Amino acid sequence: MATAITIAIFSFLLFTFIYLLSKISFRAKQNTLHHKKPPGPPTLPIIGNLHMLGKLPHRALETLSKKYGPIMSLQLGQVPAIIISSSKAAELFLKTHDLVFASRPKTQGSELMSYGSKGVAFSEKNELSVLVKTLEKAALVGEVVNVSEAVENLVQDIIYKMILGRSRYEQFDLKKLVQQGLTLIGAFNLADYVPWLGVFDLQGITRGFKKISKTLDEILEMIIAEHEETCNVDKTRAEDFVDILLSIMHQTIDYESEQNQEVIDRTNIKAILLDMIVAAIDTSATSIEWTLSELLRHPRVMKILQNEIQDEVGNKRMVEEKDLKKLNYLDIVVDEILRLHPVAPLLVPRESRESVTIDGYFIEKKTRVMVNAWAIGRDPNIWSENAEEFYPERFIDKKMNYQGHEFESIPFGSGRRRCPGIQMGLITIKLVVAQLVHCFNWELPYNISPSNLNMDEKFGLTAPRAQHLHAIPHYRLVDAKHE
Ligand code: HEM
Ligand SMILES: *[C@@H]1O[C@H](CO)[C@@H](O)[C@H](O)[C@H]1NC(C)=O
Repeated sequence: MATAITIAIFSFLLFTFIYLLSKISFRAKQNTLHHKKPPGPPTLPIIGNLHMLGKLPHRALETLSKKYGPIMSLQLGQVPAIIISSSKAAELFLKTHDLVFASRPKTQGSELMSYGSKGVAFSEKNELSVLVKTLEKAALVGEVVNVSEAVENLVQDIIYKMILGRSRYEQFDLKKLVQQGLTLIGAFNLADYVPWLGVFDLQGITRGFKKISKTLDEILEMIIAEHEETCNVDKTRAEDFVDILLSIMHQTIDYESEQNQEVIDRTNIKAILLDMIVAAIDTSATSIEWTLSELLRHPRVMKILQNEIQDEVGNKRMVEEKDLKKLNYLDIVVDEILRLHPVAPLLVPRESRESVTIDGYFIEKKTRVMVNAWAIGRDPNIWSENAEEFYPERFIDKKMNYQGHEFESIPFGSGRRRCPGIQMGLITIKLVVAQLVHCFNWELPYNISPSNLNMDEKFGLTAPRAQHLHAIPHYRLVDAKHE
């Protein structure tokens, strides 16, 4: 009798124990399942993994991702980060879970910009023909031309003309201000990642930035005032982006709805203009420099491209914007450049707005997400064994439109935060490149052979050539008219 009771109690206890144990271990398992962080390298105190980024973070991160996988955890100072390095993972983050990582909703600014940057046309070929004339002179005497400098100045003139309606503002060196600004934003700002170091303003970044923005503000204020004055006087002037913004501003004031929502004001306009200028100039100029460099390194491709333009345009005039839609080889040359040399190799960092589980990994709220577009464009699983090679023909059967459907090459990003200036950027690159190779044959100076041209890059918010490109132009048109 006593034994029966003992057995009953004992088995009851045993069952309870097993039940509890299974419950606990199940909970533990669930916990680790839900809170499993993506794999990543070991971290140091305070700096985390910052020391592993080196001078070319996109390359360092690609190497790390080969070891830890396409969804990788890093600790950047006190900021947890996830690095995305495959197109499949990029699709998960930028498409499936786009909203979580948009960190701020699509701003009205970028809406206006994508609308405006489609509307603003290359109304003037003036800037391009000025450059062609200068190069013609250099060609006559066989002079070496600083191509980087020529392209930067040209793109600046074109973009200022399209956005601000004027070519250059000599009295304030807007170019220098913008470039300083870019290096400051792009430099891995220590203060961003180790917040309490920010107080000491280690790299002078915050200080530099405040000074720059005050001067820029004055310039933009002057430009807007100028437009408001001429708006009523000079009706013949070609419309630029400032005009478009001003007309929207007046519209929203006229038809102001009851909710008083989304009225754009002067401050919005200045912010939008500044965003556009900063985002447009370096990206376009850098892409053009890379294109000319790869063409110089690949005479085969250069020849095909020149022949295509010659067939469509002839050899008596310059290329015009309307010619571009017929230049299919030019399209794939530019696709190949943007794949191999995405000017923003890590796009623009995002942040998760809430905690989320993706692909079995738990990603905490406020985690910085960086997408390694550079690594994605060179993934041999997608681009085959010759992924590192410059070979435009790979795009013949693969039309890219960069509208967020293809994740194999994402030079403009994807999702809500993707570049609103795609159209304007592509047109600028194509028109300048077409013009320069149509009007001139190019030769490398100082006995540099095509295969020896240095192709190192440096890293900021954009990744331009480390060494400036120099080349000798030889005029090749019969008697081009470029008035
Ligand atoms: C070859 C030329 C260009 C390239 C490769 C490029 C690339 C990019 C990339 C990668 C981003 C970040 C997207 C993301 O994080 O998903 C971006 C953002 C942006 N781009 Fe471009 N861009 C170019 C030209 C332009 C031009 C011409 C404009 C101006 C009209 C422009 C305006 C912007 C703006 C305003 C943003 C920020 C958008 C936001 O944060 O919502 N870009 N661009
Ligand atoms: C070429 O142009 C770049 C960019 O403007 C400039 O920084 C560099 O000093 C120039 N190089 C030479 C040799 O003049």
